[in-house]
Amino acid sequence: MQIPLSRPDITEKEIEAVCAVLRTPDLSLGPKLAEFEAAFAEYIGRKRAVTVNSGTSGLFLCMLALGIAPGDEVITTPFTFIASATPIMMAGATPVFVDIDPVSLNIDPAKIESRITAKTKAILLVEVFGNPAGIDKVCEIAQNHNLTVIEDSCEALGSALNGKKVGTFGTMSVFGFYPNKQITTGEGGMILTDDDDLADMCVSLRNQGRGKGGTWLSHERLGYNFRLSDINCALGIVQLSRIDEIKAKRKQVAKWYQQMLADDDRVAVPTEPVGCDVGWFVFVVRLSEKVTLQQRNEILKAMKAQGIQVANYFSPVHLQPFIAEQFGCKKGDFPVTESVSERTIALPFYNNLTKDEVAIVCKTLKEILDKNLPAI
Ligand SMILES: Cc1ncc(COP(=O)(O)O)c(C=O)c1O
Repeated sequence: MQIPLSRPDITEKEIEAVCAVLRTPDLSLGPKLAEFEAAFAEYIGRKRAVTVNSGTSGLFLCMLALGIAPGDEVITTPFTFIASATPIMMAGATPVFVDIDPVSLNIDPAKIESRITAKTKAILLVEVFGNPAGIDKVCEIAQNHNLTVIEDSCEALGSALNGKKVGTFGTMSVFGFYPNKQITTGEGGMILTDDDDLADMCVSLRNQGRGKGGTWLSHERLGYNFRLSDINCALGIVQLSRIDEIKAKRKQVAKWYQQMLADDDRVAVPTEPVGCDVGWFVFVVRLSEKVTLQQRNEILKAMKAQGIQVANYFSPVHLQPFIAEQFGCKKGDFPVTESVSERTIALPFYNNLTKDEVAIVCKTLKEILDKNLPAI
């Protein structure tokens, strides 16, 4: 038996849409690009959407468009995927980490103000695992200090806080479409903003610095090739058209896990906090505080040996050696992040995971916990 950690949900409709593009000459910068951007902007409820070839390049372009440069500081969380922090570094700026809230696992709003300096330009907030709890408080702090909010919504398509969609909180927001995400384009990303100047700058930067209405061989600035092909966009259009179905399927899988693990106090399961509508990205359970890193890792190994793919989301960003070295971070700097990341287990999670498969995962996990944590 093999149960993967994630699996894309591609129907005949997506396959037909991709094949249809292949029958045209418009493989890039064609009509599917504009159609995907328009559909995405409408779904999120923002004026402009700009496709890019990954969430990482989207976040990097936000930094450039906002003028974030060497000497600037950007506040963010150390409990996230590495690509929240690296775009700050790609722009030559300094990521300033702030520890997380132990319940939401998002940046702790109460700890932000003490890290703001004269060099702070922005706060890059992340809805970790799709959970939007607390992001309104982060925006409030940013507003009080005249800081720009960049929203890394790469894990949170479909989430909302008090009825307001994720992706509408930041001056600029970014989604990612890697195959483990709620919707996929194979690789891809989307920048959202209501500011035409910022959007136009991103359009230029993703396309070799070309200007609006300019010719193919005239370039106004240092640009990149971060374009997303029409083949990918066609896939994205169909995936996005299924977002309500996808969201419902993921909520159902999360509910099965919550029900089947409810009776086991060795694991804390994620729930939807009050006011939050979670567009589930992954399902990450946490072991009790008594469990050591070594025990958690043994449990991961034992699950994989049974054919059930699991992961240690996340390894703290500030302790990645190249970041620790460059910014002088060390173990103990962010105790909540470090403690949480030593006890997480991301369980298999995808649209078409069946109730029987969820039952197998839960039964296997409980048996392995019986063996590995007999005293807890
Ligand atoms: C929080 C977060 N930020 C950024 C990214 C980067 O997205 P991509 O893999 O599309 O570059 C991801 C996705 O993996 C992510 O989870």
